[in-house]
Amino acid sequence: MDKKDLPVFSVLPKHIGIIMDGNGRWAKQRGLPRYKGHIEGARTFRKIGEFAADLGVKCITFYAFSTENWKRPPEEVEAIMQLFREYLEEADDRIAENEEKGIRLRFIGERKGIPADILSLMELNEAQSSDKDKVILNIAINYGGRHEITEGVKDIVRRAVAEEISADDIDEQMISDSLYTKGLPDPDLIIRPSGEYRLSNFLTWQSAYSELWFSNVLWPDFTEDDLVSALRDFEKRHRRFGGV
Ligand code: IPE
Ligand code: IPE
Ligand code: MG
Repeated sequence: MDKKDLPVFSVLPKHIGIIMDGNGRWAKQRGLPRYKGHIEGARTFRKIGEFAADLGVKCITFYAFSTENWKRPPEEVEAIMQLFREYLEEADDRIAENEEKGIRLRFIGERKGIPADILSLMELNEAQSSDKDKVILNIAINYGGRHEITEGVKDIVRRAVAEEISADDIDEQMISDSLYTKGLPDPDLIIRPSGEYRLSNFLTWQSAYSELWFSNVLWPDFTEDDLVSALRDFEKRHRRFGGV
């Protein structure tokens, strides 16, 4: 889409969360092995990430791998890890593009358990883009909302035991600040394709007041127009946050 033809919105979410689901079913429908669906899903991720940035969305979090996804057959997990590697290895090629678009890459999730070479590539990507501030592209890898909250609670308790804080100092802000998303706005909109109507442990604390948008499209088939539809629906939502 030409820059000048980009749609304009009366209101844009400050932060969009996207649950990239349906890769396996997309492959199955075509009689292909599941990993082929992940390859196609990775293409969609690149396309939609770029498009959202072009639209002016300031922060996007893509759910790529959950703490529960390790339960899958080892070949499938390895195929997904290989796709992360390939994406992260593009770091050097990405510098120019990130420069132009001002994209800062960040990763949220438990770093323990991620293969060491992938972890170093993640750190390299974060370091290379750390001075960018137009768009935050967050990728949730080995991410689980409950795990994130549990780890945050442990940190807070350690500080309490060390008598740096007392129980009464604990408030919602302190809990938010103990999460991987510290400093980011809560997601205004969470998109889940693939016909499932659940969050599957995604941004559990942060999604308290998120608008949810579901679609039957499988992630590899998700298009720019689908994102525009989600954003058009979001424009019409009346967010009350408990008020009138
Ligand atoms: C999402 O697609 C990708 C990951 C969870 C890593 P799925 O692999 O869950 O696809 P379906 O839900 O089986 O179709
Ligand atoms: C959610 O999809 C996780 C990601 C997209 C990374 P799942 O396919 O793991 O979710 P469930 O198992 O259907 O809830
Ligand atoms: Mg799934």
